[in-house]
Amino acid sequence: MEIEVLHGNITEFDADLIIVNLFEGIKEPVGATKAIDKALDNSISNIITLGDMKGKKGEITRLHTFEKIPSPRVIIAGLGEQENFNTREIRNLGANLIRACQGAEIRHIATIAHGIGTAGLSLQDSVQAFVEGVVLGNYRFDRHKTPKEDPDNLIERLTIIENDSEKIEEIQKAATKGCVLAQATNLARDLANEPANHLTPSDLVERAKKIAESKNIELEVLDRETMEAKGMGSLLSVAAGSVQPPKLIRLTYRGKDAEPGFDLALVGKGITFDTGGISIKPAPGMEAMKADMTGAASVIAAMEAISAIKPEINVTAIAPCTENMPGGNATKPGDVVTAMDGTTIEILNTDAEGRLVLADGICYAKELGARNIVDIATLTGAISIALGDQCYGMMGNNTDLLAKISDAASESGERVWELPMFEEYGEQIKSDVSDVKNVGGRPAGSITAAKFLEKFVGETPWVHLDIAGVDMATKNNGWVTKGASGQAVRTLINLVCNWKN
Ligand code: BES
Ligand code: ZN
Ligand code: ZN
Repeated sequence: MEIEVLHGNITEFDADLIIVNLFEGIKEPVGATKAIDKALDNSISNIITLGDMKGKKGEITRLHTFEKIPSPRVIIAGLGEQENFNTREIRNLGANLIRACQGAEIRHIATIAHGIGTAGLSLQDSVQAFVEGVVLGNYRFDRHKTPKEDPDNLIERLTIIENDSEKIEEIQKAATKGCVLAQATNLARDLANEPANHLTPSDLVERAKKIAESKNIELEVLDRETMEAKGMGSLLSVAAGSVQPPKLIRLTYRGKDAEPGFDLALVGKGITFDTGGISIKPAPGMEAMKADMTGAASVIAAMEAISAIKPEINVTAIAPCTENMPGGNATKPGDVVTAMDGTTIEILNTDAEGRLVLADGICYAKELGARNIVDIATLTGAISIALGDQCYGMMGNNTDLLAKISDAASESGERVWELPMFEEYGEQIKSDVSDVKNVGGRPAGSITAAKFLEKFVGETPWVHLDIAGVDMATKNNGWVTKGASGQAVRTLINLVCNWKN
């Protein structure tokens, strides 16, 4: 979708549709809504007086303009109560409006910045959130449909119109940023939605190559031999049952002078399909495990946006990628393997494979000199028992880094919830035969998974995000689209772009 910012008067602009707004309880329209009302001989005020339009959240009122203004259609979008209006609402509004327009004869939409002045939002925040919502709401995954869904159904162009020429530059910047964040999220969605036969670890390498080339970021790929040489026995144990070779993908962005190590490493779980291995999963719903590489997709996509925004930080993204399959060579329950740092692991359930690949990913981040680590993974079914799909879980060892993630999530309009990491939970993953075992029983399943990761992190400030409850959505809801949701991608980007040492 093309996004443009123009100086002008919305009443004089020619688009397929113009979108203005109304807060709940407002009887006399103001701003752009007032200008359109006047141009349409008070139609909007008359509808308000009739009681047919109340400005409630989600309310969409459509008018035809019959050549009173150049644009043939107007939507008045209800914004709800002014006190409750924020960027989270604007983002969802943008997505809901774009969906309401799809399927009609509408290709080009024009609108203004919403909620400025009256609701006290900054122009920049408002425009960025609206553009994010529009681009995220316009997403679809149809590359395997023949023919593809009607391309004419998609909105092609959004124009944001501002009558004060001094504000144009600020709006343009905000629109560009919103677009970059949303496009990266859509990239992560594309990767997570892709069926596992179209996205093996090697396919993911090809996708990462394209991103690295176009964005001028550095790519490193570790293959099986290098993993063996590095002693990544934990990651390799997951790959043992698969005919697809494992790959560790690493993308690096340097936004400051060369210095040893990295301010931050993002480590994403990249299981391109999780059958459970020998501890095989039940058949119903197993297809969802094509998205068990959402962590990897999220860190790769985040790097694309980071390289466009160019913050002053050195950051590397690490995605240990493999299938988890049963097979003649597969890891068996009871096997003991050794991770890169020498830790021995008793594998009691081969379906708890995410923590095994992350363990070596985290060890590698430390070898590279990461001063902070954030990992992201569809790690445990237990996180959806604890939190459902309203938020994702975070656990960590450093209050400052946890706070940075919280702030980045709220800036993104996402919810994250911290779970405790009391020392005693560590008892559950003590093994009789090795340094640690890979499962800790049903109680506090998400926490014991994090406790396992903590062993490899050591003293490095670290946060683990468990996104297994939110990675796939069953329906469209505001900016979240059905299928791969793209949750936490913008949070990672905002974390990196707001970084202060
Ligand atoms: N990939 C799954 C977790 C998952 C479940 C992601 C549902 C998305 C939706 C993970 O590898 C897994 O199987 N975890 C096990 C761990 C258990 C064996 C300790 C689980 O959660 O059941
Ligand atoms: Zn599993
Ligand atoms: Zn898994």
